[in-house]
Amino acid sequence: MSRPDAPRIAVAPDSSPTWMVEAVNEGGGHVVPLAEAEGVVWGDPRDPGALEIALDQAPKARWVQLPFAGIENFVHLLDDDHIWACGKGVYAEPVAELALSLGLAGLRGLGTFTRASEWTPPQGTNLIGARVTILGGGGITESLVRLLQPFDCHVTVVRRQAADLDGVDDVLEADRFADALPGADLVVLALALTPETEGIISAGELELMERHAWLVNVARGKHVVTDDLVIALREGIIGGAGLDVTDPEPLPPSHPLWSMPNCIITPHVGNTPEMAVPLLSERIRANVRRWADDEELIGLIDVEAGY
Ligand SMILES: NC(=O)c1ccc[n+]([C@@H]2O[C@H](COP(=O)([O-])OP(=O)(O)OC[C@H]3O[C@@H](n4cnc5c(N)ncnc54)[C@H](OP(=O)(O)O)[C@@H]3O)[C@@H](O)[C@H]2O)c1
Repeated sequence: MSRPDAPRIAVAPDSSPTWMVEAVNEGGGHVVPLAEAEGVVWGDPRDPGALEIALDQAPKARWVQLPFAGIENFVHLLDDDHIWACGKGVYAEPVAELALSLGLAGLRGLGTFTRASEWTPPQGTNLIGARVTILGGGGITESLVRLLQPFDCHVTVVRRQAADLDGVDDVLEADRFADALPGADLVVLALALTPETEGIISAGELELMERHAWLVNVARGKHVVTDDLVIALREGIIGGAGLDVTDPEPLPPSHPLWSMPNCIITPHVGNTPEMAVPLLSERIRANVRRWADDEELIGLIDVEAGY
């Protein structure tokens, strides 16, 4: 039985999983219909049209909780009438672990070796002591930087505002990101998708990278101009690419990237549902508690910046 002053939270759409309802209850919230709700926990990451309709039915709602870290599908709905929060940082640890896996696998030639049906010539460079550039300085990057500590890498981070990060050697502001590409053995994309970052890696940037360097993308497929990447991989302009996200997504079966030994593709599994459910549940619980206590929510969206 919730307290009489418990925050009134709607969980929508109706198809949202029951664990979201449980998370609201466990956070001390009282689950109510949209018309009575002061907050809306939104369960469908791919249906912004339905959220727009739901918000019309929730005139008292002041807080909207989105489920994913990347909110590009919802960015046109952002307004100053609501406090918007998302899953930024929630999935940081599993996604960072995958970024590390793709980087290590690429640099050590596993794309080639796992496809081979005979003994093949040696190839591979170390991650130990390597120069790593990460675009984005949010939750995923913080986790990845921690995972990279034992590898003694020189880490450069590019973020919108050049605020320092623990364990990072150099932090550059976004407009200097091209300076961070030459010399890097590994370039990791872990930034938000916005109009400024769509297509941030195209032919010119790939040319700036080292011929042995690997590009790892665990953010969004649209950060990379796919046709330019295909050419760069085919012509040896870069060493290879490890992609958890692609454009288009899913990547069609006939796409040339599938057959390139210097390309390792995972099907957007930076966080599987098995990993994500407990993490997002905890975020919902925490934010319902914070809402009740009038504290700042975790994962607030900057409406103007769009992430
Ligand atoms: N593969 C997967 O399964 C998976 C899972 C979760 C998330 N993702 C993707 O990964 C992205 C990052 O996740 P997160 O949790 O780390 O999010 P986050 O904490 O919101 O971090 C986003 C980062 O992007 C940076 N950024 C924005 N514009 C930039 C620009 N023009 N140049 C350089 N950096 C810029 C921000 O810089 P500031 O720090 O200066 O604000 C921030 O550090 C998400 O937006 C999502 O698209 C993918």
